Amino acid sequence: MTAVAIRVSGLTKRFGQVVAVSDVTFTAEAGRVTGFIGPNGAGKSTTLRMLLGLTSADQGTALFGDVAYRDLSLPTSTVGAVLDIASAHPSSTARGHLRISCDLGGHPRDRVDHVIEVAGLAGYADRRVRGFSTGMRQRLALATALLGDPDVLVLDEPSNGLDPAGIVWLRTFLRDFSASGRTVLISSHVLTELQHSIDDLVLINQGQVAWTGPLTAFATEGSTLEEAFLALTTKEQVT
Ligand SMILES: Nc1ncnc2c1ncn2[C@@H]1O[C@H](COP(=O)(O)OP(=O)(O)OP(=O)(O)O)[C@@H](O)[C@H]1O
Ligand SMILES: [Mg+2]
Repeated sequence: MTAVAIRVSGLTKRFGQVVAVSDVTFTAEAGRVTGFIGPNGAGKSTTLRMLLGLTSADQGTALFGDVAYRDLSLPTSTVGAVLDIASAHPSSTARGHLRISCDLGGHPRDRVDHVIEVAGLAGYADRRVRGFSTGMRQRLALATALLGDPDVLVLDEPSNGLDPAGIVWLRTFLRDFSASGRTVLISSHVLTELQHSIDDLVLINQGQVAWTGPLTAFATEGSTLEEAFLALTTKEQVT
């Protein structure tokens, strides 16, 4: 395990007239869970896609330690990402999908059984993905991200589709993962959903960072987390 912080500096992305992400700067530290939170359309997914080199940035940099994703020598051993849960072929089984992903990443085959166990997939690992619920797909996507035993996890709205037991399981998993000195960056459009899961908060609104710091400091911004969140994300943008 190597401590790898995520360093985002001045990231900017326009889609035609829409400025999706504007000069976004933050650090997600190793050993901590950082929540990347903002309302629908705030620019979360676009930022995370730029981190992973899936969308090109107009300006700015995103580094893992001091290396861009495309320059990592063993990308899936450094960064595990869940940005899109629809990647597995519908006619493959979860185990089959994991075996292929494991081989493609160059990881030892015993990782497959390990991630099936860790992600709680044991009960349906040999069923076809086409019959999977959203929550089962989320678990499979997370299992795939963990194949390379990565130092960093980047998760875009992983709680979507998880039942309450799944949410508690994910929270515990992320706590253990970060406690071992690894880095977690996790997005959501609901702060209260992640309030028990995160150490640090990066609040994004209309493509810009509206607040960043430890969650404990944010709680003093308003009488409840929800009020503080709404106060910062619903005010009119000053142009
Ligand atoms: N490929 C694209 N083409 C045009 N506009 C885009 C594209 N991708 C994102 N956008 C726009 O960029 C802005 C930010 O979108 P993004 O998906 O990053 O938001 P988000 O914070 O992930 O929202 P959500 O909570 O709904 O997932 C939105 O205005 C969106 O319409
Ligand atoms: Mg999104």
